[in-house]
Amino acid sequence: MTTGMRRGLTSYGDAEFSLFLRKAFVKAMGYSDDALERPIVGITNTYSEFNPCHATVPQLIAATKRGVMLAGGLPMEFPTISLHESFAYPTSMYLRNLMALDTEEMIRAQPVDAVVLVGGCDKTLPAQLMAVASVNVPAIVIPTGPMLTRTHQGERLGACTDCRRYWARFRAGEIDQHAIDQVNARLAPTAGTCMVMGTASTIACITEAMGMSLPGAATIPAVHAERLRLAEASGARAVTLIRSGPRSEDILSAKAFTNALTVLHAIGGSTNALIHLTAIAARRGVRIDLDGFDALGRKVPVLVDLKPSGQHYMEHLHEAGGLNAVLRELRPLLHLDVPTVSGETLGEVIAASEIVPAQQVIRAVDDPIYPCGAIAVLRGNLAPAGAVIKHASATPRLLDHTGRAVVFDSLDDLALRIDAPELDVAPDDVLVLRNAGPRGAPGMPEAGYIPIPKKLARQGVNDMVRISDARMSGTAFGTIVLHITPEAAVGGPLALVQTGDRIRLDVNNRLLELCVAVDDLEERRARLTLPRPDTHVSGYRRLYVQHVLQADAGCDFDFMVPDTLPETAPVVVGSTADRSARRAADACGDG
Ligand code: FES
Repeated sequence: MTTGMRRGLTSYGDAEFSLFLRKAFVKAMGYSDDALERPIVGITNTYSEFNPCHATVPQLIAATKRGVMLAGGLPMEFPTISLHESFAYPTSMYLRNLMALDTEEMIRAQPVDAVVLVGGCDKTLPAQLMAVASVNVPAIVIPTGPMLTRTHQGERLGACTDCRRYWARFRAGEIDQHAIDQVNARLAPTAGTCMVMGTASTIACITEAMGMSLPGAATIPAVHAERLRLAEASGARAVTLIRSGPRSEDILSAKAFTNALTVLHAIGGSTNALIHLTAIAARRGVRIDLDGFDALGRKVPVLVDLKPSGQHYMEHLHEAGGLNAVLRELRPLLHLDVPTVSGETLGEVIAASEIVPAQQVIRAVDDPIYPCGAIAVLRGNLAPAGAVIKHASATPRLLDHTGRAVVFDSLDDLALRIDAPELDVAPDDVLVLRNAGPRGAPGMPEAGYIPIPKKLARQGVNDMVRISDARMSGTAFGTIVLHITPEAAVGGPLALVQTGDRIRLDVNNRLLELCVAVDDLEERRARLTLPRPDTHVSGYRRLYVQHVLQADAGCDFDFMVPDTLPETAPVVVGSTADRSARRAADACGDG
């Protein structure tokens, strides 16, 4: 097999000439023949001044390069797209697939024997994992790591759970402009990713759980020296991966995805992670079965006490032993024989985990934060292909609720009317947002956290049942049903809802129902006019709207995944007879 500079030669019809030319040009950067004979480790550079979550990427790359060279390899960094949540119009989700394509093709185009992926903000690690799932090179992931916290009036702040909470208080008139400005200056006090269990933290945790990064990678704070040492070790490890594996195809197995889904429940992770995992798994020929994921959630309790479901932050999870300590608690429910980039099996990695006495952040399976997994999958005539709710961070009394629908037809309609004094809305109503799915918006924005109408917020209402075909930030909370599939813009039943209809949410029975007679629904469907596909768009937008898949298929492009997926995850494994796991299952009403 060709390696190093001989790999993937540019096509001139003369391989020796291609190598001659390649070396002539690369020597312009000062490389010696000795350096150019070494195994090459590519390092993705996702630094951007538009991406504060990646502010430490240059230092991480410097440390990674040191590790590669100490192990006898040649590090070569190369740029890829960088995505930050607040600097991605229309949404970062719209651009995730573009970043995945970019990363995949640049890994393929350049002579890299292994790749180190440095990423962190919500969509970056998913895009990078989608890329390596397709390319199948030896790969190792270095998350940029979570921010540290700061306080306001003695209360600890977390981006972005408290961004939303304080904004809601400001909207309700509870705090003034001066206070909200102070909070604004303190929510993101250091470089790094959001420090609650939002999407970035969730993806970093499941990446480590799948074995694609070294132990500690998910939780070491972005600005700790420990993270630079992790980067150095990852660089050195990448050189070993070239020689002896495992490759990403060995690591990204159905068993590894099952482990990831188990961890997603146990950490109280983000609903977005389900979409990303579905997309990554599909590229490896593995299908994530939504009902299987839901069944898994009846056996796996939430163990990690982090916002938005709990009270602590990522720095505290790290001090409590990091993800490895969570995995130790989950051992009976995990596949322990899967390989990891460390060269050890997951079971061996867990065996070396640190035990921190009297820590308050990670609970035992028989003393959980929440008795079942964080996320439930709903079905019903409103969501024939599924919807999700993060019930671990919802209001318990609203989990069994029937209310009158108040419908918003689009994001523009929502912005126009949600705070209108004349809006006919009551606290028991169900707020409905549609045409905010993968195609409808397009890009499936994180608009599912529909704001409480100002006039209700000012009366002290802080949660309502809200349903949509949109997503929600992993840092958000509330009784919010998301990812309704099929979305309204492709004719899903959500398109048929009218203001005044009754909607039933019954999370215990996993039900989302529109209480309207079948004949009436058929009549409405006969009259339904779907938004016309915009035939005038060109470029990436055209590619996106024509090829993006629905949420239950991971919102990847249809041409990136096989028509049929031979393997299915999750397969619930381990000792389900384990007493602790059984107690948790009993508490969730499922033996
Ligand atoms: Fe980047 Fe939250 S905005 S992780």
